[in-house]
Amino acid sequence: MQFMLFSLAVIFALTGQALAAFNVTLGTKVFFQQDLLNITGSAIPPSCASNCYNARNNIQSCGSADTACLCKTDTVDSVRGCQQCMFTQLIDQNIKPQDPRVGSTPFMAGYSTACGDANHTLTANQTALKVLSKSWDGPFDAVLPVGGTVVAVMAGAFLGISALLLLSNLS
Ligand SMILES: *[C@@H]1O[C@H](CO)[C@@H](O)[C@H](O)[C@H]1NC(C)=O
Ligand SMILES: *[C@@H]1O[C@H](CO)[C@@H](O)[C@H](O)[C@H]1NC(C)=O
Ligand SMILES: *[C@@H]1O[C@H](CO)[C@@H](O)[C@H](O)[C@H]1NC(C)=O
Ligand SMILES: *[C@@H]1O[C@H](CO)[C@@H](O)[C@H](O)[C@H]1NC(C)=O
Repeated sequence: MQFMLFSLAVIFALTGQALAAFNVTLGTKVFFQQDLLNITGSAIPPSCASNCYNARNNIQSCGSADTACLCKTDTVDSVRGCQQCMFTQLIDQNIKPQDPRVGSTPFMAGYSTACGDANHTLTANQTALKVLSKSWDGPFDAVLPVGGTVVAVMAGAFLGISALLLLSNLS
């Protein structure tokens, strides 16, 4: 009996070491697989709910630390679809995310890093979020007077920055 318990302990210790948990760090918070898209309902824009629940189910139904599953094209596409939808909503409504996992370029970058660390390298276009918003008509009128929110959202986005550069070069 004691030997059996000992063997179990050894097995847990070994597998625990072999499988680092899949995680994404945003600011000071570390989000693990089950929490990655487990965002409180009200923080998800309603029009993105079905996208995001689908992506959340994909992530949660992969085995624990099963990076082949977490990083396969379908899974990553669904995650990007969810984040892209929320990103567009934030810009359209000029609101600040209530949760660091909402509409977040750093989220996609962290997801990409986690996959890369497990040797499932993702291409840039698998994780990039694009500025698709119709109401994004430049930083000079609609956006700046309302305050820093959209600017803050954009600050994390490479594409946002290049859009700004592009616009200022055109004007
Ligand atoms: C978080 O993921 C990294 C790889 O991206 C890994 O090295 C680290 O061990 C993971 N952290 C935990 C607590 O599992
Ligand atoms: C998702 O979050 C809710 C509330 O924070 C929690 O009760 C639930 O256990 C979480 N689900 C998973 C799969 O982690
Ligand atoms: C990834 O590949 C490198 C080099 O081939 C190897 O040293 C490393 O152990 C691999 N990491 C994982 C998590 O498979
Ligand atoms: C990324 O680019 C490759 C080729 O450049 C293309 O085959 C693939 O469909 C693209 N993926 C996405 C998600 O746009």
